[in-house]
Amino acid sequence: MAKFIIAKDHNQVGEIGAQIISDQIKLKPASVLGLATGSTPIPLYQHLVRLYQQGVLDFAAVKSFNLDEYAGLSADHPQSYHAFMDENLFSRINIAKENIHILDGLAQDPEQQCQSFEEEIKKAGGIDLQLLGIGNNDHIGFNEPASVFICDTHVVDLTDSTREANRRFFSSLEEVPTQALTMGIRTIMAARKILLILNGQNKAAAIEKAFLNVIDPQVPVSILQLHPDVTVVGDEAALGGLKKQAPSLFASS
Ligand code: GLP
Repeated sequence: MAKFIIAKDHNQVGEIGAQIISDQIKLKPASVLGLATGSTPIPLYQHLVRLYQQGVLDFAAVKSFNLDEYAGLSADHPQSYHAFMDENLFSRINIAKENIHILDGLAQDPEQQCQSFEEEIKKAGGIDLQLLGIGNNDHIGFNEPASVFICDTHVVDLTDSTREANRRFFSSLEEVPTQALTMGIRTIMAARKILLILNGQNKAAAIEKAFLNVIDPQVPVSILQLHPDVTVVGDEAALGGLKKQAPSLFASS
């Protein structure tokens, strides 16, 4: 059963999340981390950078795999997830360049690239800890609501609601890519631990649907009900409603 932790604000979501990742790296310095983008993980990455600067954390042996990338954006496009990760984390810590894996939005053969990404994860021994955010429409990575769960890393058409939600990062809706490459549901579920972070009222409905209803590919995040080791960290605005409706979910936190 998932463990739920209510933090006092967005910054504390990041602090608690960073502590969980830090514990993982201390336990296994060569940890394989699955990483996420979006506004939600920014404070978490700030806390990881602080722990690194304080000499508490060493990323020298860590390997990372990012959840997703926009199709059609080059790594140096300011809104690419490559650029996001570089700016918010990788350029500020001592992770080795060759240990970073992010799907290439400009790959000539995207399907082939998705396959080799899966193989790289296997070669690394699988993901120890996968960080996740949640889209307003319940997506994880870029696994959009669909009629079936798509298993492996794949190319996906982004829904209008996702493009609309992410347009704030671009100067117009037209500039928001229409496709992305994303880890699949099986890829995510194969991680040994999952850390889902969320904050704000606009994520409340998504997390409630995820854990109060049946598992449904129209609510991709609901698959997490089946994962044996999920920790959810969110602020009161995001998790308060869930706690009210299902206090037993919070019994162990
Ligand atoms: C994007 C990413 C997701 C992320 C989601 C939520 O769509 N593909 O991985 O979880 O945004 O982003 P935010 O944290 O900005 O709400």
